[in-house]
Amino acid sequence: MANVVVVGSQWGDEGKGKIVDWLSEQADVIVRFQGGHNAGHTLVIDGVSYKLSLLPSGVARSGKLSVIGNGVVVDPHAFVSEVERITAQGVTVGPENLRIAENATLILSLHRELDALREESSTGTRIGTTKRGIGPAYEDKVGRRAIRVMDLKNLSTLPAKIERLLAHHNPLRRGLGQPEILAEAIFEELSSVADKMLPYIDSVWRLLDGQRREGKRILFEGAQGALLDIDHGTYPFVTSSNTVAGQAATGCGLGPNSIDYVLGITKAYTTRVGEGPFPTEQKNEVGEFLGTRGREFGTVTGRQRRCGWFDAVLVRQTVCTSGISGIALTKLDVLDGLDEIKICVAYELDGERIDYLPASQGAQERVKPIYESLPGWKESTEGARSWADLPAQAVKYVRLVEELIGAPVALLSTSPERDDTILVQNPFQD
Ligand code: GDP
Ligand code: IMO
Ligand code: MG
Repeated sequence: MANVVVVGSQWGDEGKGKIVDWLSEQADVIVRFQGGHNAGHTLVIDGVSYKLSLLPSGVARSGKLSVIGNGVVVDPHAFVSEVERITAQGVTVGPENLRIAENATLILSLHRELDALREESSTGTRIGTTKRGIGPAYEDKVGRRAIRVMDLKNLSTLPAKIERLLAHHNPLRRGLGQPEILAEAIFEELSSVADKMLPYIDSVWRLLDGQRREGKRILFEGAQGALLDIDHGTYPFVTSSNTVAGQAATGCGLGPNSIDYVLGITKAYTTRVGEGPFPTEQKNEVGEFLGTRGREFGTVTGRQRRCGWFDAVLVRQTVCTSGISGIALTKLDVLDGLDEIKICVAYELDGERIDYLPASQGAQERVKPIYESLPGWKESTEGARSWADLPAQAVKYVRLVEELIGAPVALLSTSPERDDTILVQNPFQD
């Protein structure tokens, strides 16, 4: 029985939420394994839009178990308000269909404040983060001073842990000219939400081991994209977790042998939110066309996404770093009506042609895209549900993408709606 990992193959917002929701019909368990509520995943079901940040995109289907793994950083207040918001939309969310790993790290208000302070300061590198406290929370996890989900079960152990945390944060805050934080304030922040979290807390590695032994199908839902990966992305303009498929195992406590298929969600063009290199960015009418047609505004922060042509060099690289078996190509419909479509096939770096993104920040800023150009198509592909509905030029574009990135198209998405999806090869039946 195949388990499938879904990851973004670019800089996030590729349409992971839509595809996870679509695939989850065939899955029993849907697991988030990294990131936090910096993610914004939009599902559209019968014209109704659902925006998820922390909850796995499988919650929209009844009878499925959703799991937030240990690799996720959890803001408990954001969790409670997202559950309330989604419940108000008529989705059933409760401990019977949602669990959180006891060993996941908590995001506190001090992390959010620190994230915002750094972003707003004139010194240091501005990353353009979502200001959700993601980076500072992961720093505390690796620094072995984090407060974890399980600590909410035993409030009497909190004061010592808070003291250890503040011994790090208060000197940092003083340096930034900020008032110190009182231990009582953190205790209150956590104890006020503990009761609401308790029913969801579980030993996720044991839960998933049991599900696997029963032959249940597991769908792993990645957040962000491979180019935002802390190791393999455009460092330092990245998020603070591993976003590549290998993290799916570590981030929930299953071994790598539980992964059978890696589906890379790939937008038919490229977008990026925040700072950092973007070789094929189009700061012109092409970028405006893509942004307007593709409604490229962030789900989480409402920021305008930067837009550009499809970069086959980057995706070919992320096919390797994530071990992508096949891709779901999304938003093909956004390209409808263009006279000419360009694809980046290689870069020029200091007068030499290269076929990969160099690792250094300086070189990443200097690479210049080398394009191949194709005629566009005038017909609409929006809402197409079969391969036969696609214009010949659109099929040519898809075939060229496959050839350049070295991975086949398993799914093709032609609108935000759940069912406007063409199945080419079922990842669960690989
Ligand atoms: P995610 O972060 O990867 O889940 O992606 P987002 O949800 O942030 O952004 C993708 C946006 O594109 C959402 O608004 C989706 O509803 C929308 N979308 C997904 N697939 C398609 C598609 O094939 N065509 C169009 N036009 N929109 C799509
Ligand atoms: P989904 O799951 C796109 C970007 C931010 C910033 C960088 C670091 O919807 O694809 P962070 O707050 O994580 O420390 O910000 O990463 N970023 C995303 N960009 N989609 C996302 O998630 C993102 N999550 C973080 O814009 O550049
Ligand atoms: Mg998103």
